[in-house]
Amino acid sequence: MKILNFGSLNIDNVYSMDHFVRPGETTASLKMETFCGGKGLNQSVALAKAGAPVYHAGKVGADGQMLIDILGEYGVDTSLVAMTQGHTGHAIIQVDKKGQNCILLYGGANQEITTDYIDDVLAHFEKGDMLLLQNEINNIDYIIKKAAEKGMILAINPSPISDELVKMDLTSITYFILNEIEGNELTQETDPEKIARKMRQIYPGCVVVLTLGKQGVMYYDGTNTYTHGIYDVPVVDTTAAGDTFTGFFLSTLMQGEDVPKALEYASIASSLAVSQKGAAPSIPTMEQVKDAKLKKVEF
Ligand code: RIB
Repeated sequence: MKILNFGSLNIDNVYSMDHFVRPGETTASLKMETFCGGKGLNQSVALAKAGAPVYHAGKVGADGQMLIDILGEYGVDTSLVAMTQGHTGHAIIQVDKKGQNCILLYGGANQEITTDYIDDVLAHFEKGDMLLLQNEINNIDYIIKKAAEKGMILAINPSPISDELVKMDLTSITYFILNEIEGNELTQETDPEKIARKMRQIYPGCVVVLTLGKQGVMYYDGTNTYTHGIYDVPVVDTTAAGDTFTGFFLSTLMQGEDVPKALEYASIASSLAVSQKGAAPSIPTMEQVKDAKLKKVEF
């Protein structure tokens, strides 16, 4: 089974802040650093670092070669990544003293995904291969339709959630890996169990992996429910924690482990990611995850 991650590639300009800029305020940042990021790129790096063979598809501008190079360094197949005339997507990320972030996105080349390009990419995959998506590129509905017609297994991290995505036909998707806000937008429910059950009504046959912040994560597939807590780590920067979780969860499952093990590795990996700066650079290797001696938070 091959895994294709069709997703965004961003240059992340990260500003360390005393506090997030308020409306009408001008404030100086403490530091600016540049990292490779984008939910797509981060999830490909996480999949690869967790041991899965992964192909990335997406677009960058002429200023985005470093993003392709980084994916290649982590072992991601980049032969399907294309370069356009425009600008590479970027993110302006403020990180405050508590490690919380807020992100402003510029789509750039991520919004130049044409149907011809999608057809070319999908021609390399077949029934039974997995497709992973996020919501930072355009033409997602076309990708979903064509991949489902081929019989690919579809997974989505519906982030950042948008009205357009909520209205899309997502019934061919098997794995939804999402947080409570995204779950609420898709179901109008707030209670995690109700979100999971409603997801199964709206998207029959789907598997719901709902991350719950400090409450950990809940998995529900219509028959089995599993939960996993969080670990006690110093929070430096929460950027890419969700991306790390998604990549490690799917990669671990693909390698034949059971769901509780996938939840455990994904939870450890995202805890390690929040204790490091940056997006892609903060993602640990599977070896680091297996060696980690973290203390679980008891409630
Ligand atoms: O999930 C984190 C990512 O969101 C950042 O790397 C940024 O590029 C945005 O896409």
